[in-house]
Amino acid sequence: MTNPTPTHDAAADSWWRSATIYQVYIRSFADGDGDGTGDIAGLRSRLRYLAHLGVDAIWINPWYPSPLADGGYDVSDFRDIHPAYGTLDEARKLITEAHGLGLRVILDIVPNHVSDQHAWFQEALAAAPGSPERKRFIFRDGKGENGSLPPNDWHAAFGGPTWTRTPDGQWYLHLFAPEQPDLNWDNGEVRAEFESILRFWFDLGVDGFRIDVAHGMVKDPALPDLGLTEFSVIAHEDGHPHWDRDGVHDVFRSWRAIADSYPDPRVFVAEAHVRPGRLPDYLGADELHTAFNFDFLKCALEADKLREVIDRTITDLAKVGAPATWVLSNHDEARHVTRYGRAHTGVTTPALDQGHPTDLTLGTRRARAAALLMLALPGGAYIYQGEELGLYEVEDLPDSALQDPTWERSGHTVRGRDGCRVPWTGDTPPFGFSTFGSAMPWLPQPDDWKSYTAEANQADRTSMLQLYRSALRLRRTNPDLRGEEFRWLDSPAGTLLFERGNGLLCAVNLSGRPIPLPDATSPLLASGPLTKDGLLTADTTVLLHRD
Ligand code: NOJ
Repeated sequence: MTNPTPTHDAAADSWWRSATIYQVYIRSFADGDGDGTGDIAGLRSRLRYLAHLGVDAIWINPWYPSPLADGGYDVSDFRDIHPAYGTLDEARKLITEAHGLGLRVILDIVPNHVSDQHAWFQEALAAAPGSPERKRFIFRDGKGENGSLPPNDWHAAFGGPTWTRTPDGQWYLHLFAPEQPDLNWDNGEVRAEFESILRFWFDLGVDGFRIDVAHGMVKDPALPDLGLTEFSVIAHEDGHPHWDRDGVHDVFRSWRAIADSYPDPRVFVAEAHVRPGRLPDYLGADELHTAFNFDFLKCALEADKLREVIDRTITDLAKVGAPATWVLSNHDEARHVTRYGRAHTGVTTPALDQGHPTDLTLGTRRARAAALLMLALPGGAYIYQGEELGLYEVEDLPDSALQDPTWERSGHTVRGRDGCRVPWTGDTPPFGFSTFGSAMPWLPQPDDWKSYTAEANQADRTSMLQLYRSALRLRRTNPDLRGEEFRWLDSPAGTLLFERGNGLLCAVNLSGRPIPLPDATSPLLASGPLTKDGLLTADTTVLLHRD
């Protein structure tokens, strides 16, 4: 089965309001040339698999030339492809082939920072303090005697200070690793450059962008001290000097105008970690189309908490006419099969993310329930590569294999995000990721992954893959799920029950014991078996229709 080819009509124009988007972490998705690293050739060879899965689009993590100091979020050239992943010509072919299969293509744009190897940063280092080259970045003199102290007290995301000193004594700002200098978004050249980059890829046929660190690009030029002892991913109150500043909205309004200038609309999804209630500011007819819903990803798998997040999401976003989005995993968080197999199922701090007792059987059962819930909610949904196979977080990677900058920058105290980035899918390593006789994958794979391959999933009617396929087929074909209507119905404590459209019900049992199905309904699809008396087992979701 293939998806309909994108065409320019009203229904197609709003495809993004209910799209299921598959995240391709290209380095780990499929290796076409046997060097141990995923690439465009590998991705092209699996497009049919993705179309058959039933997704509407793919989002590809940064594929640009990069020294990979932060997995490619340190871009050295925004208008080319990393040689390990392929060429621009292959990128064009990928876009054409994906479109031919009815799949849209979304790229990742990284506007907050560039690689320290980017031509602009190299020019800035070679230029004098105060030069136009330095004004594209945030250079400052230091404090203290001879300026030997950083300009302020900010902490960087992967550990350490947010400032690095250059040989001539000035300091430059980097909210992330030192290899990722922040751009100065008060600079007209920076703004013009990114508008040109957007056009470059839109002209190549790309359907949209995921915007990295959308809430961090604009800084308070006074760069005041924060008074915090460690890095915080969001602003906890108004007036933060680098998170969620009003100035970012001007940038996104001009980006939206560019997207809307194309006959078939191009779309944006923001990575914006903001306080509850702030996301709508980023969205709407003159700003971004959608944003990731990290509150849903981070929420503990408990009925009351999920209900609160779902309610708030739908209500808040409706105010600006934006659709909700839902996501359970991505390349920055422990895979949800593992999270849900722990006593504490929510995401709190990275330190909590590894080394906790985990019951993978329980985690898998809950992951199935969460997936069916996510795919039954109104709006868009994101699937992180491998979650449809039931992959878990690899927590025992050898220290020597770790590549996430967090490991070094934290002084080997936080292992970082490599465990969710292990290349997936054969019978012996490299499990079909590469061809036989290839180099070993860039991160080692666990031996038991042979039972998680697409082939193994395919052969089992009750597998995670078959559940995703069935749920995605219903999302596409069931008129009640295609609309945006949603309403809660009464249900026992510890459970969720809602209706979509006119007569499609979704029941989620997180109460710890079996519950009866709602009266006068019949199951359409369940994430696990019902009891022999027809009750909904614990940690199970079922879609039902009214009799
Ligand atoms: C968010 C990305 O998802 C993450 O992988 C990256 O390290 C930071 N932004 C910095 O670009």
